[in-house]
Amino acid sequence: MKSKASAPGKIILFGEHFVVYGVKAILCAIDKRITVTAENVQEEIISIKSNIGEHEFSLQEYGTVTDLRFKPLYYLAKKMIDKHKKRSGIKITVESDIPSGVGLGSSSACCVAAAAAISRLYEENSKEEILKMAIEAERTIFQNTSGADCTICAFGGMIIFDKKNGFSKIDYKPELHLVIANSNIKHSTEKIVSKVKKFSENNREEFLDMCKRESEIINQALTLLKNNDVRNLGKIMIENQEFLERLGISNEKIQNMIKMANNISLGAKITGAGGGGCIIMLTNECDSKKIIETMRDKNYDCFDARIDFQGLDTF
Ligand code: PMV
Repeated sequence: MKSKASAPGKIILFGEHFVVYGVKAILCAIDKRITVTAENVQEEIISIKSNIGEHEFSLQEYGTVTDLRFKPLYYLAKKMIDKHKKRSGIKITVESDIPSGVGLGSSSACCVAAAAAISRLYEENSKEEILKMAIEAERTIFQNTSGADCTICAFGGMIIFDKKNGFSKIDYKPELHLVIANSNIKHSTEKIVSKVKKFSENNREEFLDMCKRESEIINQALTLLKNNDVRNLGKIMIENQEFLERLGISNEKIQNMIKMANNISLGAKITGAGGGGCIIMLTNECDSKKIIETMRDKNYDCFDARIDFQGLDTF
């Protein structure tokens, strides 16, 4: 039997870093996807093939798989084989158009699509059950994940997340046209989160003030999204970026990208942890092409993105 599933990547529209300190964050799924194909094979192996590598594991290797790229997939396949007491294996193929390691949710999307494709070889599950499995798989590489990334990849659209109350879906469907520019500098979310922690300890008053202002930005953003007011959304993205700069998570390349982006779009900011990764620019539909050309002329790697409202898809 063969089973296929795909899931979208994501961006953080507002609230990264401050979310760690209890402020809300707004996440969007984007129309860049990862597709996982799972197939039963007679041999007792788990084989994984993706654009980042290829490997064949025996079923006895549990606990010894150290390559972080393969761990969640191995975990999901082994879990299903053990649960259904099968003396056979699984071949997994991953195809992705989400750049990896730059905050666009490639690993979460992979966990969600893999949980769906692999489990469907043996049983039918709801999206909620698939999400639970995907988060378990992601914890094999990122113990402290909040689960927000897997949630947005599974359900698509937009969600609002906060640490205390978890997630809720944003019901309205604004027409956002985004351009994403990738600095091609891979980042470690964990290291940058610790850097921000130091900043918050050394600048207590200022940081509390920033958290308060960020909360206001998020509330404003929710109203602006509801009214599809992209012009004012751009303005608050610029303001949000100033806070992220102050936290010290930008760098020279990102600053140059942001400077250029602010001249040609409605507003731009870092998305995700920073220290590299990607920036997002808000545009009008008619301007996207021109913005991409202008950024590419300066050798910046960029592409357009829309909100994905579908989330996980199985076929
Ligand atoms: O790993 P990224 O780039 O998607 O960013 C994570 C977002 C942070 O707010 C920086 C950390 C977190 O756990 O929320």
